[in-house]
Amino acid sequence: MKVTLTAIKADIGSIGGHLVPSSDVIARVEEFIAERGKDLICDHFTGHTGDDIAVLVTHERGPGDEDVHRLVWEAFKSGTEVAKNQGLYGAGQDLLKDAFSGNVRGLGPAVAELCFEERENEPFLLFTADKTEPGAYNLPLYLAFVDPMYSSGLILSPTVGQGFAFTVMDVSCTKKDRIVEICTPEEAYDLAALLRDNGRFVVESIRSRATGEEAVSCGTTRLRNIAGKYVGKDDPIMLVRTQKNFPATGEILAPFEIGHFVAGFMRGSHIGPLMPVKMGSGVSFFDGPPIVSSLAFCVHDGKLTEPTDVFDHPYWDWVRNKVAEKAHNIREQGFSGAAMLPYADLEYGGIKVRMQALEERFCTRN
Ligand code: 13P
Ligand code: 13P
Ligand code: MG
Ligand code: MG
Repeated sequence: MKVTLTAIKADIGSIGGHLVPSSDVIARVEEFIAERGKDLICDHFTGHTGDDIAVLVTHERGPGDEDVHRLVWEAFKSGTEVAKNQGLYGAGQDLLKDAFSGNVRGLGPAVAELCFEERENEPFLLFTADKTEPGAYNLPLYLAFVDPMYSSGLILSPTVGQGFAFTVMDVSCTKKDRIVEICTPEEAYDLAALLRDNGRFVVESIRSRATGEEAVSCGTTRLRNIAGKYVGKDDPIMLVRTQKNFPATGEILAPFEIGHFVAGFMRGSHIGPLMPVKMGSGVSFFDGPPIVSSLAFCVHDGKLTEPTDVFDHPYWDWVRNKVAEKAHNIREQGFSGAAMLPYADLEYGGIKVRMQALEERFCTRN
């Protein structure tokens, strides 16, 4: 069967600040999808990471389908009503446009979609991150799909070893989708030159060069570009198919043990290490640290298995402790230097006003 996985994620309000959605809001979103989606979709899953709710639906209607996107948009709208009634912080935060117009892309929520002919066995991973930006997946994807130091399949498997085609988006271009295709291993250094800049160049998708099949789809939404001002971080969502002609599940997960430094954290304006956490975790310390969770599923005839939480394992407890120490180390230096984003990337307009006022007080000495 040709199945489409559609994963959409939005912050529609949370308890106590930007921490976690309420169980009532999550329940409303889930019920809405189950009820209204009955004749439209094959299966669905709803979960949350930090203050963002993620909805995964399976269907046969292809990517960008208007009815499927409308279903999830309206589920988030319905959840927002509950959030408002409960007085949740930032109710409807990521629903930046009033009216649905064909597709949730460009309306606020983050979207990742994969469409493929199901293999006999079809494992995949759903990643959801909070308090960070889409470029947070750049390094883990590079290491899992290009570097045999992390991904042994690149030297052990004849198909994985033929490399991958990366589609990279320049998210600074707001008028149109500006993209480039880079083929590894030959162009690995070109890819690294782009992906070092997580704020500008973002992996959008990855294809197997052996079979042409799509392995990865990653949300590239920039909320600031849609809203024209800071309304929250772009907390990204990603789908990754694994095994056989793709890296193994464990190879995809391996780079997440680094806890690499990403943009986000408090007020979307700092640098912090990305901590792999269990699905359903909130954030706390300094509205962070930036977190990522991941669930593994198999899908057959459009039906999902129950998920297994890949970061719910003793190994990742050790990783979390290590990453907490990295977070502590960078937070010790507060606003200074590398701990905060450069001026141009700061998400808050307030500092611009402050700097303009100071500008007028400067004078030059003869
Ligand atoms: P199995 O031999 O258990 O199928 O594992 C193969 C594999 O890909 C492990 O990473
Ligand atoms: P979210 O983007 O997760 O809502 O976080 C916003 C923020 O400012 C946290 O301090
Ligand atoms: Mg929020
Ligand atoms: Mg969030």
